[in-house]
Amino acid sequence: MGTIRIGIVTVSDRASRGEYEDRGGPALRAYLDEVLASPWEADARIVPDDLRELTQTLIELCDRRSCCLVVTTGGTGPAVRDVTPEATEAVCEKILPGFGELMRRVSLEKAPTAILSRQTAGIRGRTLLINLPGQPKAIAECLDAVFPAVPYCIELIGGPILRTDPKRLVAFRPKSAPPLPPLESPGA
Ligand code: MTE
Repeated sequence: MGTIRIGIVTVSDRASRGEYEDRGGPALRAYLDEVLASPWEADARIVPDDLRELTQTLIELCDRRSCCLVVTTGGTGPAVRDVTPEATEAVCEKILPGFGELMRRVSLEKAPTAILSRQTAGIRGRTLLINLPGQPKAIAECLDAVFPAVPYCIELIGGPILRTDPKRLVAFRPKSAPPLPPLESPGA
């Protein structure tokens, strides 16, 4: 199986203009480094809250960069410029409402403002896309809840096998699923 590539998209007008340090993108990369046991590489982008530009970036990461997973941070709220869910819905063939439902449910235990996030998830081809709110602390709050389902979801759409570090996060896998191939030894 080829390289596991994951798109990390910070959606922020100010960060894209360099007026604001991007904290979400690096935090997301650190989270994935902590949780994933499989080798992976990031394709990180910072884009403004612009429907056209964001849509083009998502399509590029899915279709040309062959990311198996694209995670966005920011632009999920009710403000006029917040268009991340619209861009996600525009590029996806299937929406997975359960991701947004579960992330909002767990987030509400941390912050009453979680109700303001319209974050969603969906499938484009062999890519799973997931929206996260822009607050860096929301990354672990949301992904700890839904990430157990991510490797099996990617497998179901024909993507690579993502292994997690079971000490950090145990991935969900139904007993009826075909067994995973043995772990490749380093350098094999
Ligand atoms: N979810 C979690 N887990 N933690 C948070 O701090 N912030 C909320 C909400 N969801 C938050 C959260 C806030 S304040 C807003 S306005 C919305 O997400 C949308 O944020 P966004 O526009 O940066 O995506």
